[in-house]
Amino acid sequence: MEVDRVQSIASSMVDNIPSEFVRSEKERPGTTTHLGPAPDIPTVDLSDPDYGQVLQKMVKASKEWGIFQLVNHGIPEEVIRKLQAVGKEFFELPQEEKEAYARDPNSGSLEGYGTRLQKDFDGKKSWVDFFFHIVWPPSRINFAVWPKKPAAYRECNEEYTKYLVDVVDKILGALSEGLGVERNTLKNAVGGEDLEYMLKINYYPPCPRPDLTLGVVQHTDMSSLTLLVPNEVQGLQVFKDGIWFDAKYIPNALIVHIGDQIEILSNGIYKAVLHRTTVNKEKARMSWPVFCEPPPETVVGPIPELLGEDNPPKFKTKSFKDYQYCKLNKLPQ
Ligand code: OGA
Ligand code: NI
Repeated sequence: MEVDRVQSIASSMVDNIPSEFVRSEKERPGTTTHLGPAPDIPTVDLSDPDYGQVLQKMVKASKEWGIFQLVNHGIPEEVIRKLQAVGKEFFELPQEEKEAYARDPNSGSLEGYGTRLQKDFDGKKSWVDFFFHIVWPPSRINFAVWPKKPAAYRECNEEYTKYLVDVVDKILGALSEGLGVERNTLKNAVGGEDLEYMLKINYYPPCPRPDLTLGVVQHTDMSSLTLLVPNEVQGLQVFKDGIWFDAKYIPNALIVHIGDQIEILSNGIYKAVLHRTTVNKEKARMSWPVFCEPPPETVVGPIPELLGEDNPPKFKTKSFKDYQYCKLNKLPQ
């Protein structure tokens, strides 16, 4: 099947974009992005020797924002640089070479090279192509779907993941403490050692009319946590206190998103962040989110210790698979 990749469409557009990419007035970044001074999303320094301070900042950010920039997280700069270099090299391969990895929409699997085939519910398309593959745990990896070019792709991704797994453990431990429950509570609740790490590489081609279109439309992630590194092209926007504003680019920071599953487990104490992405007129934007997701059959609901007579559950308890199905099909949760 022939698919129109956004990258191919973009390369033939000089000063216009197809109407299916043009967003309604109320969605366009050109009219909905806050002008003037905007808040910065909180920064958490994981190397701070005062652990109480780290904990307090992370917990506050997760309650009030659902997102924070994690700096000095222990992943060497070089490891991030290489992850980005090999991903960029893949997206710069000739189109035919990338198509060899095209995701089969009938396979039931998300893994592979793709473009959103179905339009959004309002009939609009998103200015982004992507690649999905599982990076952890090793038993769930299917190397057959990973890019074989450039040759260093596998090694660089494995190296990054090894470090990332430690960071995720630290965050889930701290967030558990912030709820006043055992340190391993959240990790166990999202699958323990079976927690799945799904890497997505987003490729947002340069766009002649970034004021009219969106990369990814507004959403909260279905994951427990999402840890993302962007390239230097700003584009992630966060919605808070009624305004959309840009997340600043901090070199080597990991942008940590609280996803729906942590919001549910915490019974709403931690908030899943509403976010979207804009695109750039001259430069390709890229980002590498890793979605940390419970295995499909894992049953997720508010942690019983947090509930009481004055604290009824705000969310249903259900399997992650059912949760995804309802959200993707816009059914009530
Ligand atoms: C996503 C997403 C943000 C970004 O892919 O879910 O929100 O900065 N991406 O690319
Ligand atoms: Ni997202």
